[in-house]
Amino acid sequence: MAINLNNVKLRISAGLPRQFPNDPIPQVAFSGRSNVGKSSLINSLLGRKSLARVSSAPGKTITVNFYDVDAKLFFVDLPGYGFAKRRAEDQQVWSRLTDGYCTDNTHADRIRPVIQLIDSRIGPTQDDEMMLEYLNQAGFPYLVVATKCDKLNATERRQSEELFRNHPLIPKDIPVIFYSSLKGDGKLELWKQIAAYTGVKI
Ligand code: GTP
Ligand code: MG
Repeated sequence: MAINLNNVKLRISAGLPRQFPNDPIPQVAFSGRSNVGKSSLINSLLGRKSLARVSSAPGKTITVNFYDVDAKLFFVDLPGYGFAKRRAEDQQVWSRLTDGYCTDNTHADRIRPVIQLIDSRIGPTQDDEMMLEYLNQAGFPYLVVATKCDKLNATERRQSEELFRNHPLIPKDIPVIFYSSLKGDGKLELWKQIAAYTGVKI
């Protein structure tokens, strides 16, 4: 049966790895720099305005938010990285949560795919490159979403596409989807990828 996007709720905002839910369903994880557009992307995919909180002050709360999508999938909003002004103790919380999420065997094999968000206007930053290196060596299935593409004109879009496609840390077989949460560009393509990775029907 096709997925019912009216049946979506926040299961938990986990501040500790032991709070991560254990349901035997795929987890689509959204990773990226603070402010790159993770929460907006989740809202856009789910056709909701404000299910995932879009931040005006980036990196405020450090939690892993699990959205139960019709009991068939979790959408997992990971805490953003690369927040320069983060205090040392916040950095610790971030590491404990993110490492716990990526390495805990009880659910790490349910993570598919990781959706790695990168700002289409900037391309991969140093932080993004560290994350790409990690994804390449950890072997998680992943794809790249280039966010905020509504802010590019046609020439910038072509340049950005080339930059992403020729980036040495983005293998040729990894899909790169240009996305606008504002306009909906890329939404069908991304849902098709999520369906292919998780087996849900859309
Ligand atoms: P953190 O939770 O702090 O890590 O940020 P986030 O990655 O969840 O980003 P969020 O979705 O909160 O968006 C950050 C800012 O970018 C907000 O002001 C959004 O309105 C804006 N934004 C997100 N996606 C888009 C987009 O596709 N187009 C445009 N123009 N703006 C966007
Ligand atoms: Mg967010």
